[in-house]
Amino acid sequence: MSLSKYSLLLAMVLGLGACAADPVPHPSQTSARAKGPAAAEAERALALADGGNAAAGKLAYEVCSACHLPSGFGRRDGGYPKLAGQHATVLIKQIADIRAQVRDNPSMHGFVKELRDPRDIANVAAYIESLCIPPGNGRYTLPDAAEQIARGRQMFARECADCHQASGQGNKEKRYPVVAGQHYRYLLRQMQDIRDGYRQNGDPDMVKTIAKYKNDQLQSMAAFLASLDTPGTPCEPAPVRK
Ligand code: HEC
Ligand code: HEC
Repeated sequence: MSLSKYSLLLAMVLGLGACAADPVPHPSQTSARAKGPAAAEAERALALADGGNAAAGKLAYEVCSACHLPSGFGRRDGGYPKLAGQHATVLIKQIADIRAQVRDNPSMHGFVKELRDPRDIANVAAYIESLCIPPGNGRYTLPDAAEQIARGRQMFARECADCHQASGQGNKEKRYPVVAGQHYRYLLRQMQDIRDGYRQNGDPDMVKTIAKYKNDQLQSMAAFLASLDTPGTPCEPAPVRK
């Protein structure tokens, strides 16, 4: 049997006979997005270079507000992080990582696919960065809060402040996230996920640093960070109606 006849037979056996002439692409082709760290890095670089336009990002943010809320407050129980106050550079990296499945986030994955291209990512990040800071994040409220916060402050200053700053404001240029004023439960979950390797995009130097911390120590640091105010312009209090 000639090679071409053989491949035709093989194609028929595999049930692919009609595909060659079929103009409709196979689902795996339409849904395929480039995956992995290199794809995330390429998209991040393009989005960063774009700069972003906050006004254009407002529309793209609508789909995000279902979970993160129009104010960017997220949820006090930490199910959805607060985005308001986060550096655009950090937002861009996280969105690109989630799109390329470098940061596992199944609940959000379908939605970030709605962003068309790196410009959309830059715009939505610029819009989020322009939001005022909504008050009242989720905090640690058990009776020993004062001791936990004091202990967490000391611990955080020793090894984490090099990157995140003692005030938790991070570093925009270097893409170190703002951690001040984030919801307590979200902070604790991220620290554990980064330590335990579940958040695959954790900074390698941070992974090394946080490896030795026990859960109760992470709790104290999360309590401390959640007790701080997120840097930025606080939202105006709602006008009092008489
Ligand atoms: C279905 C709910 C949902 C929608 C819609 C959603 N997100 Fe998220 N987002 C999440 C969850 C849950 C997390 C935290 C995941 C985790 O615990 O690691 C998250 C995390 C993030 C983070 C990382 C924050 C950080 O501090 O590291 C960014 C940035 C983000 N989302 C931006 C967006 C943008 C932009 C959109 C719209 C295009 C969006 N999200 C739509 C649920 C959602
Ligand atoms: C070498 C710099 C560095 C050090 C040291 C470091 N971090 Fe981080 N941290 C980062 C970077 C970068 C990220 C974002 C990682 C990524 O890109 O996903 C991060 C992420 C986080 C997050 C998740 C923020 C979010 O919004 O999802 C928390 C919480 C955090 N760090 C806490 C800590 C604590 C606590 C320590 C000390 C034990 C620490 N970090 C030490 C650089 C650092």
